[in-house]
Amino acid sequence: MYARIAGTGSYLPERILGNRELETMVDTTDEWIRERTGIERRHIAAETQTTADLAEQAARRAMEAAGVTAADIDFIVVGTTTPDVVFPNVGCLLQERLGIRGCPAFSVEAACSGFMYALSIAERFIATGRVACALVIGAETLSRIVDWSDRSTCVLFGDGAGAVVLKPSSEPGIIACQLGADGHYQDLLYHPYGPSRCPGPVFGDQEGHFIHMKGNEVFKVAVKTLEGIAEKMLVDNGVDAAELDWLIPHQANLRIIQATAKRLRMPMERVVLTLQDHGNTSAASIPMALDAAVRDGRVQRGELLLLEGFGGGFTWGACLLRF
Ligand code: ACO
Repeated sequence: MYARIAGTGSYLPERILGNRELETMVDTTDEWIRERTGIERRHIAAETQTTADLAEQAARRAMEAAGVTAADIDFIVVGTTTPDVVFPNVGCLLQERLGIRGCPAFSVEAACSGFMYALSIAERFIATGRVACALVIGAETLSRIVDWSDRSTCVLFGDGAGAVVLKPSSEPGIIACQLGADGHYQDLLYHPYGPSRCPGPVFGDQEGHFIHMKGNEVFKVAVKTLEGIAEKMLVDNGVDAAELDWLIPHQANLRIIQATAKRLRMPMERVVLTLQDHGNTSAASIPMALDAAVRDGRVQRGELLLLEGFGGGFTWGACLLRF
Protein backbone atom coordinates (compact mmCIF):
# COMPACT_ATOMS: atom_id res chain seq x y z
CA MET A 1 0.00 0.00 0.00
CA TYR A 2 1.26 3.47 -0.88
CA ALA A 3 0.25 6.87 0.43
CA ARG A 4 -0.72 9.21 -2.36
CA ILE A 5 -1.33 12.96 -2.30
CA ALA A 6 -5.01 13.35 -3.14
CA GLY A 7 -5.15 17.14 -2.85
CA THR A 8 -3.11 20.19 -1.89
CA GLY A 9 -3.96 23.58 -0.40
CA SER A 10 -2.24 26.66 0.95
CA TYR A 11 -2.95 29.98 2.53
CA LEU A 12 -1.05 33.26 2.85
CA PRO A 13 -2.23 36.05 5.15
CA GLU A 14 -3.45 39.20 3.42
CA ARG A 15 -0.85 41.68 4.64
CA ILE A 16 2.20 41.88 2.36
CA LEU A 17 5.49 43.27 3.63
CA GLY A 18 7.71 44.12 0.66
CA ASN A 19 11.45 44.70 0.63
CA ARG A 20 10.95 48.43 0.11
CA GLU A 21 8.93 48.68 3.30
CA LEU A 22 11.67 46.79 5.16
CA GLU A 23 14.10 49.49 3.99
CA THR A 24 12.16 51.88 6.23
CA MET A 25 12.42 49.54 9.22
CA VAL A 26 16.08 48.41 9.22
CA ASP A 27 19.35 49.28 7.47
CA THR A 28 18.84 47.17 4.37
CA THR A 29 18.03 47.48 0.67
CA ASP A 30 15.71 45.72 -1.73
CA GLU A 31 18.77 44.94 -3.85
CA TRP A 32 20.68 43.27 -0.98
CA ILE A 33 17.70 41.12 -0.01
CA ARG A 34 16.98 40.01 -3.57
CA GLU A 35 20.64 39.31 -4.40
CA ARG A 36 21.46 37.42 -1.19
CA THR A 37 18.18 35.58 -0.71
CA GLY A 38 15.88 35.86 -3.76
CA ILE A 39 13.05 37.13 -1.52
CA GLU A 40 10.91 40.06 -2.71
CA ARG A 41 8.05 40.07 -0.22
CA ARG A 42 6.60 38.13 2.68
CA HIS A 43 3.11 37.87 4.21
CA ILE A 44 2.42 38.73 7.82
CA ALA A 45 -0.46 37.33 9.86
CA ALA A 46 -2.93 39.85 11.25
CA GLU A 47 -2.70 40.46 15.00
CA THR A 48 -5.74 38.30 15.58
CA GLN A 49 -4.60 35.47 13.25
CA THR A 50 -2.84 32.46 14.73
CA THR A 51 -1.06 29.46 13.26
CA ALA A 52 -4.26 27.39 13.61
CA ASP A 53 -6.16 30.03 11.59
CA LEU A 54 -3.66 29.75 8.75
CA ALA A 55 -3.61 25.95 9.01
CA GLU A 56 -7.40 25.81 8.83
CA GLN A 57 -7.54 27.76 5.57
CA ALA A 58 -4.86 25.60 3.95
CA ALA A 59 -6.51 22.40 5.24
CA ARG A 60 -9.93 23.33 3.90
CA ARG A 61 -8.43 24.05 0.46
CA ALA A 62 -6.56 20.75 0.41
CA MET A 63 -9.70 18.85 1.44
CA GLU A 64 -11.70 20.55 -1.29
CA ALA A 65 -9.03 19.69 -3.87
CA ALA A 66 -9.00 16.07 -2.68
CA GLY A 67 -12.80 15.87 -2.70
CA VAL A 68 -12.97 14.79 0.95
CA THR A 69 -15.02 16.08 3.87
CA ALA A 70 -14.19 16.36 7.55
CA ALA A 71 -15.96 13.03 8.11
CA ASP A 72 -13.33 11.29 5.94
CA ILE A 73 -10.28 12.56 7.90
CA ASP A 74 -8.91 10.04 10.40
CA PHE A 75 -5.45 11.47 11.13
CA ILE A 76 -4.19 15.04 11.58
CA VAL A 77 -0.54 16.05 11.90
CA VAL A 78 0.78 19.61 11.80
CA GLY A 79 4.43 20.61 11.43
CA THR A 80 4.95 23.90 13.26
CA THR A 81 7.44 25.76 15.42
CA THR A 82 5.03 28.55 16.25
CA PRO A 83 2.00 26.87 17.85
CA ASP A 84 -0.90 29.00 19.12
CA VAL A 85 -0.33 27.79 22.68
CA VAL A 86 1.85 25.16 24.37
CA PHE A 87 -1.19 22.88 24.43
CA PRO A 88 -3.66 21.88 23.12
CA ASN A 89 -1.51 21.26 20.05
CA VAL A 90 -2.39 22.88 16.72
CA GLY A 91 -3.67 19.54 15.39
CA CYS A 92 -6.29 19.43 18.16
CA LEU A 93 -7.27 23.07 17.62
CA LEU A 94 -7.72 22.33 13.96
CA GLN A 95 -9.62 19.13 14.62
CA GLU A 96 -12.17 21.05 16.70
CA ARG A 97 -12.62 23.71 14.00
CA LEU A 98 -13.19 21.07 11.36
CA GLY A 99 -15.76 19.35 13.58
CA ILE A 100 -13.81 16.09 13.72
CA ARG A 101 -13.74 13.99 16.91
CA GLY A 102 -11.71 11.01 18.02
CA CYS A 103 -8.94 10.70 15.43
CA PRO A 104 -5.28 11.27 16.43
CA ALA A 105 -4.32 14.94 16.12
CA PHE A 106 -0.90 16.29 17.01
CA SER A 107 1.90 18.60 15.98
CA VAL A 108 5.53 17.94 15.18
CA GLU A 109 8.21 20.44 16.09
CA ALA A 110 11.16 20.19 13.69
CA ALA A 111 11.55 23.82 12.53
CA CYS A 112 11.77 24.14 8.74
CA SER A 113 11.71 20.34 8.34
CA GLY A 114 8.40 20.10 10.22
CA PHE A 115 6.35 19.26 7.15
CA MET A 116 8.82 16.58 6.01
CA TYR A 117 8.63 14.96 9.44
CA ALA A 118 4.82 15.21 9.50
CA LEU A 119 4.52 13.80 5.98
CA SER A 120 6.77 10.86 6.72
CA ILE A 121 4.80 9.96 9.89
CA ALA A 122 1.45 10.14 8.07
CA GLU A 123 2.87 8.14 5.16
CA ARG A 124 3.73 5.24 7.50
CA PHE A 125 0.24 5.19 9.04
CA ILE A 126 -1.34 5.07 5.56
CA ALA A 127 1.11 2.52 4.17
CA THR A 128 0.46 0.14 7.06
CA GLY A 129 -3.29 0.39 6.55
CA ARG A 130 -3.97 2.05 9.92
CA VAL A 131 -5.22 5.32 8.43
CA ALA A 132 -7.42 5.97 5.39
CA CYS A 133 -7.30 9.76 5.02
CA ALA A 134 -4.64 11.95 6.61
CA LEU A 135 -4.44 15.70 6.78
CA VAL A 136 -0.78 16.80 6.79
CA ILE A 137 -0.01 20.45 7.33
CA GLY A 138 2.90 22.84 7.69
CA ALA A 139 1.86 26.15 9.26
CA GLU A 140 3.77 29.02 10.85
CA THR A 141 3.44 32.54 12.22
CA LEU A 142 7.19 33.16 12.33
CA SER A 143 6.60 36.93 12.35
CA ARG A 144 5.80 36.51 16.07
CA ILE A 145 9.33 35.29 16.87
CA VAL A 146 11.32 37.53 14.53
CA ASP A 147 13.27 40.49 15.89
CA TRP A 148 12.04 43.25 13.58
CA SER A 149 15.06 45.39 14.45
CA ASP A 150 17.60 42.72 13.37
CA ARG A 151 18.30 43.07 9.65
CA SER A 152 20.18 39.78 9.48
CA THR A 153 17.02 37.76 10.23
CA CYS A 154 13.91 39.92 9.78
CA VAL A 155 14.27 40.11 6.00
CA LEU A 156 14.12 36.32 5.70
CA PHE A 157 10.93 35.09 7.34
CA GLY A 158 7.19 35.19 6.72
CA ASP A 159 3.89 33.54 7.68
CA GLY A 160 1.79 30.98 5.82
CA ALA A 161 0.39 27.46 5.70
CA GLY A 162 0.36 24.55 3.28
CA ALA A 163 -1.51 21.25 3.46
CA VAL A 164 -1.93 17.93 1.70
CA VAL A 165 -4.50 15.16 2.01
CA LEU A 166 -2.96 11.67 1.88
CA LYS A 167 -4.95 8.62 0.88
CA PRO A 168 -4.02 4.97 0.29
CA SER A 169 -3.29 3.77 -3.23
CA SER A 170 -2.07 0.58 -4.81
CA GLU A 171 0.16 2.68 -7.09
CA PRO A 172 2.94 5.03 -5.86
CA GLY A 173 2.41 7.52 -4.29
CA ILE A 174 5.11 8.27 -1.84
CA ILE A 175 8.06 6.08 -2.73
CA ALA A 176 10.37 6.95 0.16
CA CYS A 177 10.82 9.42 3.01
CA GLN A 178 14.18 9.95 4.71
CA LEU A 179 14.70 12.04 7.84
CA GLY A 180 17.71 13.13 9.85
CA ALA A 181 18.92 15.50 12.55
CA ASP A 182 22.08 16.67 14.28
CA GLY A 183 21.63 18.45 17.59
CA HIS A 184 25.31 19.41 17.70
CA TYR A 185 24.52 22.42 15.55
CA GLN A 186 21.95 23.90 17.90
CA ASP A 187 23.98 27.06 18.54
CA LEU A 188 23.80 28.14 14.90
CA LEU A 189 20.03 28.50 14.72
CA TYR A 190 17.73 28.63 17.70
CA HIS A 191 15.00 30.33 19.65
CA PRO A 192 16.30 30.62 23.20
CA TYR A 193 13.17 30.53 25.34
CA GLY A 194 10.43 28.10 26.16
CA PRO A 195 8.21 27.45 29.14
CA SER A 196 10.69 25.02 30.69
CA ARG A 197 14.02 26.78 30.24
CA CYS A 198 12.70 30.23 30.90
CA PRO A 199 9.29 30.27 32.49
CA GLY A 200 8.03 33.76 33.07
CA PRO A 201 4.83 35.58 33.77
CA VAL A 202 4.53 36.54 30.12
CA PHE A 203 6.44 34.21 27.81
CA GLY A 204 6.76 36.75 24.98
CA ASP A 205 8.15 39.50 27.22
CA GLN A 206 11.53 37.85 27.74
CA GLU A 207 14.35 39.82 26.18
CA GLY A 208 15.77 38.02 23.16
CA HIS A 209 12.56 36.07 22.52
CA PHE A 210 13.51 35.80 18.87
CA ILE A 211 15.09 33.61 16.22
CA HIS A 212 18.88 33.74 16.56
CA MET A 213 20.89 32.64 13.55
CA LYS A 214 24.50 32.57 12.42
CA GLY A 215 23.32 32.84 8.82
CA ASN A 216 26.63 32.32 7.13
CA GLU A 217 27.39 29.09 8.99
CA VAL A 218 23.84 27.79 8.63
CA PHE A 219 24.13 28.44 4.91
CA LYS A 220 27.21 26.21 4.53
CA VAL A 221 25.75 23.27 6.48
CA ALA A 222 22.39 23.66 4.71
CA VAL A 223 23.97 23.46 1.24
CA LYS A 224 26.10 20.44 2.15
CA THR A 225 23.26 18.60 3.88
CA LEU A 226 20.63 19.26 1.22
CA GLU A 227 22.97 18.15 -1.57
CA GLY A 228 23.76 15.01 0.41
CA ILE A 229 20.17 14.02 1.20
CA ALA A 230 19.00 14.60 -2.36
CA GLU A 231 21.78 12.40 -3.74
CA LYS A 232 21.23 9.70 -1.11
CA MET A 233 17.51 9.56 -1.80
CA LEU A 234 18.13 9.08 -5.52
CA VAL A 235 20.87 6.46 -5.08
CA ASP A 236 18.87 4.51 -2.48
CA ASN A 237 15.87 4.34 -4.80
CA GLY A 238 17.77 3.73 -8.03
CA VAL A 239 16.52 6.96 -9.57
CA ASP A 240 18.61 9.19 -11.82
CA ALA A 241 18.23 12.95 -11.29
CA ALA A 242 17.32 13.24 -14.98
CA GLU A 243 14.16 11.22 -14.25
CA LEU A 244 12.92 13.80 -11.74
CA ASP A 245 10.25 16.11 -13.08
CA TRP A 246 10.43 18.58 -10.21
CA LEU A 247 12.58 19.47 -7.25
CA ILE A 248 10.44 21.15 -4.57
CA PRO A 249 12.84 22.41 -1.92
CA HIS A 250 12.33 24.27 1.35
CA GLN A 251 12.10 27.92 0.32
CA ALA A 252 14.80 29.51 2.50
CA ASN A 253 17.34 31.04 0.16
CA LEU A 254 17.63 31.06 -3.63
CA ARG A 255 21.38 30.45 -3.49
CA ILE A 256 20.94 27.32 -1.35
CA ILE A 257 18.31 26.03 -3.79
CA GLN A 258 20.53 26.78 -6.80
CA ALA A 259 23.41 24.89 -5.21
CA THR A 260 21.27 21.76 -4.71
CA ALA A 261 19.90 21.96 -8.25
CA LYS A 262 23.42 22.36 -9.65
CA ARG A 263 24.66 19.33 -7.73
CA LEU A 264 21.77 17.28 -9.18
CA ARG A 265 22.43 18.83 -12.61
CA MET A 266 18.80 19.92 -12.67
CA PRO A 267 17.99 23.08 -14.63
CA MET A 268 16.26 25.74 -12.54
CA GLU A 269 13.25 25.41 -14.87
CA ARG A 270 12.51 22.11 -13.08
CA VAL A 271 12.78 23.60 -9.60
CA VAL A 272 9.67 25.06 -7.97
CA LEU A 273 10.50 28.50 -6.61
CA THR A 274 8.01 30.50 -4.58
CA LEU A 275 10.26 32.11 -1.98
CA GLN A 276 10.23 35.43 -3.83
CA ASP A 277 6.55 35.76 -2.84
CA HIS A 278 6.62 34.66 0.79
CA GLY A 279 10.18 34.31 2.12
CA ASN A 280 11.09 31.51 4.50
CA THR A 281 7.85 30.21 6.04
CA SER A 282 9.63 27.31 7.78
CA ALA A 283 7.43 24.18 7.95
CA ALA A 284 4.87 25.75 5.62
CA SER A 285 7.18 26.41 2.70
CA ILE A 286 7.33 22.99 1.00
CA PRO A 287 3.57 22.27 0.95
CA MET A 288 2.96 25.89 -0.11
CA ALA A 289 5.38 25.53 -3.03
CA LEU A 290 3.83 22.20 -3.99
CA ASP A 291 0.33 23.67 -3.93
CA ALA A 292 1.37 26.68 -6.00
CA ALA A 293 2.91 24.43 -8.66
CA VAL A 294 -0.10 22.09 -8.70
CA ARG A 295 -2.57 24.95 -9.04
CA ASP A 296 -0.69 26.76 -11.81
CA GLY A 297 -0.35 23.52 -13.76
CA ARG A 298 3.41 23.02 -13.49
CA VAL A 299 3.12 19.80 -11.48
CA GLN A 300 0.99 17.20 -13.24
CA ARG A 301 -0.42 13.87 -12.07
CA GLY A 302 2.06 11.02 -12.49
CA GLU A 303 5.16 13.24 -12.32
CA LEU A 304 8.14 12.33 -10.16
CA LEU A 305 8.90 14.85 -7.40
CA LEU A 306 11.67 15.26 -4.87
CA LEU A 307 10.73 17.30 -1.80
CA GLU A 308 13.48 18.28 0.64
CA GLY A 309 13.88 20.50 3.66
CA PHE A 310 16.41 21.65 6.23
CA GLY A 311 16.01 23.67 9.40
CA GLY A 312 16.78 24.46 13.00
CA GLY A 313 17.93 21.60 15.16
CA PHE A 314 19.46 20.92 12.70
CA THR A 315 16.78 18.74 11.18
CA TRP A 316 16.31 17.62 7.61
CA GLY A 317 14.16 15.41 5.45
CA ALA A 318 13.44 14.38 1.89
CA CYS A 319 10.58 12.64 0.15
CA LEU A 320 10.51 11.01 -3.28
CA LEU A 321 7.02 10.65 -4.69
CA ARG A 322 4.94 10.22 -7.77
CA PHE A 323 2.25 12.87 -7.68
N1 ACO B 1 20.76 44.09 4.54
C1 ACO B 1 21.99 44.57 4.29
N2 ACO B 1 23.10 44.01 4.78
C2 ACO B 1 22.96 42.94 5.55
C3 ACO B 1 21.72 42.38 5.87
C4 ACO B 1 20.58 43.01 5.34
N3 ACO B 1 19.34 42.57 5.57
N4 ACO B 1 21.90 41.30 6.66
C5 ACO B 1 23.21 41.17 6.84
N5 ACO B 1 23.86 42.15 6.18
C6 ACO B 1 25.31 42.39 6.09
C7 ACO B 1 26.08 41.79 7.23
O1 ACO B 1 26.11 42.65 8.35
C8 ACO B 1 27.45 41.64 6.61
O2 ACO B 1 28.09 42.90 6.64
P1 ACO B 1 29.70 43.01 6.89
O3 ACO B 1 30.33 42.27 5.75
O4 ACO B 1 29.93 44.48 6.89
O5 ACO B 1 29.92 42.33 8.20
C9 ACO B 1 27.15 41.32 5.14
O6 ACO B 1 25.80 41.75 4.93
C10 ACO B 1 27.28 39.86 4.80
O7 ACO B 1 26.58 39.09 5.79
P2 ACO B 1 26.48 37.53 5.70
O8 ACO B 1 25.70 37.02 6.88
O9 ACO B 1 27.85 36.97 5.46
O10 ACO B 1 25.61 37.37 4.35
P3 ACO B 1 25.25 36.07 3.55
O11 ACO B 1 25.66 36.22 2.17
O12 ACO B 1 25.67 34.83 4.30
O13 ACO B 1 23.66 36.09 3.57
C11 ACO B 1 21.82 35.04 4.75
C12 ACO B 1 22.95 36.08 4.80
C13 ACO B 1 20.85 35.47 3.68
C14 ACO B 1 21.14 35.01 6.11
C15 ACO B 1 22.39 33.65 4.41
O14 ACO B 1 23.50 33.38 5.21
C16 ACO B 1 21.39 32.52 4.57
O15 ACO B 1 20.43 32.41 3.84
N6 ACO B 1 21.63 31.60 5.52
C17 ACO B 1 20.82 30.38 5.67
C18 ACO B 1 19.46 30.65 6.24
C19 ACO B 1 18.71 29.34 6.30
O16 ACO B 1 18.64 28.61 5.34
N7 ACO B 1 18.19 28.98 7.46
C20 ACO B 1 17.66 27.59 7.55
C21 ACO B 1 16.32 27.47 7.80
S1 ACO B 1 15.62 28.63 8.92
C22 ACO B 1 14.82 27.71 10.16
O17 ACO B 1 14.99 26.56 10.36
C23 ACO B 1 13.85 28.50 11.08
